[in-house]
Amino acid sequence: MNQLKFPPRLCLAQLPTPFKPLPIPTYSGDRRLWIKRDDLTGSLLSGNKVRKLEFTLAEALSQGADTLITCGGLQSNHCRATAVLAAEHGLGCELILRGDPPAVSDGNMLLAQLAGAKLHIYGAREYQHKLSSLLVDHSEQLVREGRRPYIIPTGASDEVGLWGYVKAAQELANDFQSEGLESPLVVCAAGSGGTLAGLAAGLAHYCPQARVLGVAVCDSAAYFRARVKEDIAGAMKRYSDSGLSVPDNYWVNDQYIGPGYALGYRSLYDCIARIAANTGVILDPVYTGKAFYGMLDLLEKSQLRQSDIVFVHTGGIFGVFPEREAMQINNP
Ligand SMILES: Cc1ncc(COP(=O)(O)O)c(C=O)c1O
Repeated sequence: MNQLKFPPRLCLAQLPTPFKPLPIPTYSGDRRLWIKRDDLTGSLLSGNKVRKLEFTLAEALSQGADTLITCGGLQSNHCRATAVLAAEHGLGCELILRGDPPAVSDGNMLLAQLAGAKLHIYGAREYQHKLSSLLVDHSEQLVREGRRPYIIPTGASDEVGLWGYVKAAQELANDFQSEGLESPLVVCAAGSGGTLAGLAAGLAHYCPQARVLGVAVCDSAAYFRARVKEDIAGAMKRYSDSGLSVPDNYWVNDQYIGPGYALGYRSLYDCIARIAANTGVILDPVYTGKAFYGMLDLLEKSQLRQSDIVFVHTGGIFGVFPEREAMQINNP
């Protein structure tokens, strides 16, 4: 197999992350379940974002940036990870956030503030309509102040960040070999699409027999199919000698979003509680909970044919706390 040629990367995550069987007592089917613990890539840098930011930050520093600008929801894991990395590297950080400012900050937003990020909060409608210009306006303002900003797109999901999950696919292929998995199905949450794009492109190269299922937590399956193609095409164009190719090994399910992005539902919360109590794995209600719930439901309905199913736990634990009311457990 030809090696892929990776762009420059900083080592920021604790890698490799553990890969383990995940026996679930309440699942009675015959599939073998596994978990890739990317929630353990770090503490404040936990989750999938740090893998992408290894490449994004290398790119920003190579351009001489002294301030990172990025965007997301008030509880964005990506914004928190960017703020912490900026603090660690002596960089400024400005976050364009979507939502209504809470009376008291919590979860990821609180951590981003503690890490010194400057927050700019916009209502959902304004954010949705004006995001590109907001990023540019804030960037231009920083330039006027003599700073050198670098804009990171939502979730660091672009032709640079997706390399984080191409690299993760290489790690997974080693995990599969060590544990004897021949043609597994890899399941992940799809939020901005970079994790899915990287896994699909990387596994097509390192483990062509594997398939990837992205469980959408916001937009439609058609959106993610197009988005993944677009990001990979962007990477192939920009890194033309990298060896990447367009994969045909993935699909997207958008049936588990519920009422909308970051909006939960009872069966989701119950699933999160059941998995935590039975396995010690904590899922979050915005991303990993929906993906895991979807994976289990599809398994129960016998819609997944592979005998090895690998869930990529992409982190998100700080998103549990702002949902504390919905997630209350009534112990007997
Ligand atoms: C915890 C967590 N899991 C999964 C995702 C989805 O990853 P991606 O944005 O690469 O689709 C995100 C971010 O969107 C996340 O914060």
